[in-house]
Parts: sequence; structure tokens; C-alpha cells
Amino acid sequence: MTQERYARIAGWGKYVPENVLTNDDLAKSVDTSDEWITTRTGIKERRIRGENDTNSSMAVAASEPALEMAGLKATDLDLIIVATSSPDYLLPPVSSQVQDILGAKCGAFQLGAGCSGWVYALAVATQFIKSGAYNNILVVGSEIISFALDYTDRTTCVLFGDAAAAVVLTPSEEPTGVLSFELGSDGSGAEALIVPGAGSSKPLNQDVLDNRENFIRMDGKAVFRFAARTVASSLKRTIDQAGLLPDDIDLFIPHQANARIVEAGARFLRQPAEKFYLNIHKYGNTSTASVPLAFVEAMEEGRLKEGDKVAMIAFGAGLSWATVVAQVGVGDISSAHSLFSYAVKRARNRVVDGAQMAMLPLYTLFRRNKKK
Ligand SMILES: CC(C)(COP(=O)(O)OP(=O)(O)OC[C@H]1O[C@@H](n2cnc3c(N)ncnc32)[C@H](O)[C@@H]1OP(=O)(O)O)[C@@H](O)C(=O)NCCC(=O)NCCS
Repeated sequence: MTQERYARIAGWGKYVPENVLTNDDLAKSVDTSDEWITTRTGIKERRIRGENDTNSSMAVAASEPALEMAGLKATDLDLIIVATSSPDYLLPPVSSQVQDILGAKCGAFQLGAGCSGWVYALAVATQFIKSGAYNNILVVGSEIISFALDYTDRTTCVLFGDAAAAVVLTPSEEPTGVLSFELGSDGSGAEALIVPGAGSSKPLNQDVLDNRENFIRMDGKAVFRFAARTVASSLKRTIDQAGLLPDDIDLFIPHQANARIVEAGARFLRQPAEKFYLNIHKYGNTSTASVPLAFVEAMEEGRLKEGDKVAMIAFGAGLSWATVVAQVGVGDISSAHSLFSYAVKRARNRVVDGAQMAMLPLYTLFRRNKKK
């Protein structure tokens, strides 16, 4: 019998640009305020790329400490995946630049799935290791999303920031790393978060520039509704698939898009808000870098330790989403319950979930009236 392989998260690293752009800074150029941004999103400040920062340089700066922690040289890598929506160039893929700068001698590809990209990449990389095809894989999320922001549009420019983060996966025979995942897409919502011009369907021309169609356009309410719906439901399914219960998860690492979306997710999962890691106040939404940056900081702060189970979820343009349940280091992956108590608690959760869904319209009405 062949031994089952797992993909251990063996190293991690981050890079955040030095330039800090605060809410008060933004309020000097657009009609907004620190109070509005803080209460509606949870964001206080974000980082914006410096003169010498490029997507590839930031990806490399995040990858080097990850490789060092994993005890690997770049030449030990079998594959590099860089998730991004803001590569240095339309061509070549930034992954090849990262491979070259690092001095790696392996395949490399760029993965685009909006803000969900890095979680997609983590699930994809895990499959290469589980299948035995590859051993050591670098998974990066790197984003200079500020280049696609219209700094005259207060509905988008306050939300995003630049950053990069990376992990290195290595094979393990002990249960560890990604235990279950869900990759999702609903292209019918594409218009809700889009850069309408400067792609192949509407190449860059004077019209595109005049209409500011080379920048991100967003229907914030539609994205909010999609995200609030998706976070709890996808987490539930992915946790269930891992044979676990929400109570078994030590830390949730949600996409850092809006603290209110995270609060709604926690409420629907009936989990305490403290179990949801947030660093949105420091960085805003850093797109593909958001979840790995939060993972790295949670590790640095000791919020996650050997054997802990973590559920990570990202969502964004597409519309897309991706969720993984993973274990940090090795440890018992079975549920903390006996088979009987697991079955009872799972059945009870299903009943309460059903009741919650049935009550949703009433609950929404109640909150709407309360707001008024
Ligand atoms: C964008 C978002 C913060 C807006 O919050 P909201 O509570 O839905 O606010 P609304 O869109 O209802 O806007 C309310 C008012 O605030 C205004 N407003 C929007 N942005 C503002 C800003 N930065 N400062 C001040 N006022 C602002 C609106 O123009 C609107 O004014 P009006 O009532 O006069 O028309 C919220 O919808 C959101 O986070 N959506 C999800 C976005 C997301 O996650 N995107 C990334 C996915 S990867």
C-alpha cells in the first residue's frame, strides 16, 4: 500500500511596502472620512508600493524568508505559483520573473482568480504534492492593486492596498496542510467587480482612459451580499468535508475585505468573532495577498501553533471564492469528538443551520429596521 502524502506548510514570509496611506490622507483628496471608512469597513490604513516596489520584487521579498524557514534553496523548488491580478506586465507572467530572480530551475505559472487566487493556488499546489508529482512548491500572493484604483472614486480607492505573502509546501507522511478545499465560481456576477477596459475585449485607447475604464469598478452592495452569503456556507461545507465541526477550528482566516462581512460570517457559523483573525485595519484589502498575509501574521503572533486547525476563505472578482481547511504542523486530524458525539453535534448543527436559513428573511428585515 502506498503511503498517503500530505503537503506541509513548511515556511512562510511577507513583504509590505513602507508607504502608509491613512484614512485621513485619503480624506484630503476624496470626499470621505476616517469615521466612514472605519465604521463601514474596519480599515484604518493601507500600504502603497514604493518607487522601487514591483509585483515581482515584492513576491521575491516574501518568498525568500519562506524558503529559508523551510530550509530550502530556490534550486530545490519543483514549482512556483504566483497568484495575482496585477502582474508587472501583461506578458510575461510574473511567475517567470519570480523564478528567474530567485534563481529557481523549475516550472512557474501565474494564477488569476481575483482575490481568491492564493487560496486557489494553495489547493492546486497541494494536489501536485499529494499525487507525488512534485515535492517542494512555492505559493505566492503578490499584489500592487493600487495601480488599478481610481483615486477619484471614493467607493473603491479606500478599500485596497499593496502587499505580498508566500508559503512553501513540502511533502509529509504525517497528516498536515490542506485537509479539504472548495473552489467556487459564479461568472454571472462578473460585472460586480471588473476593470472594464484595457483588456482584449476593449483594448486601451483614449476612450478607455477618458471614461476611466482602466480602473476597478465595483457594485459594493452586490459584492457584499455575495460575500456574506458565501463565507459561512462555504466554510461549513469545507469544514464538514474535513470531517470536522466549526467548533474544532482553532482560527478562521477570512479574506480581509470588510470587517462587517467577517462579523456576518462569524454570526452565521455561530462562532465567536475572536476566532476570526483580522489585520484589515493595517492593510485594507490586499487582494491575493490578503489571506496569506493574515496567515503569516497569525503565525508570527502565535495565534496559530503546531497542530492547530485553520479555515481560510477568500472571495472576489469572478465572482469567485476558495476555501481550505488546513492543519498547521502535524497532530491528530480527527475531530476532537467520539464518532457518536461528532454525529450528534453534526446533526444538531444541520437542524440549527436549517432553522437559521428559514429565519433569514425575518432576520434581515429586523436588522434593516434596527439600522433605520
Ligand atoms: C463598499 C462598501 C464598504 C460600501 O458600504 P455600504 O455600507 O454598502 O455603503 P453604500 O454603498 O450603501 O453607500 C452608502 C453611502 O456612502 C457613500 N460612500 C461610499 N463610499 C464612501 C466613502 N469612501 N466615504 C464616504 N461615503 C462613501 C455612498 O456614496 C452612499 O452615499 P449615498 O447614500 O448618498 O448614495 C461595502 O458595500 C462593501 O464592503 N462591499 C464589499 C466590497 C468588497 O468586499 N470588495 C472586494 C471584494 S474582493
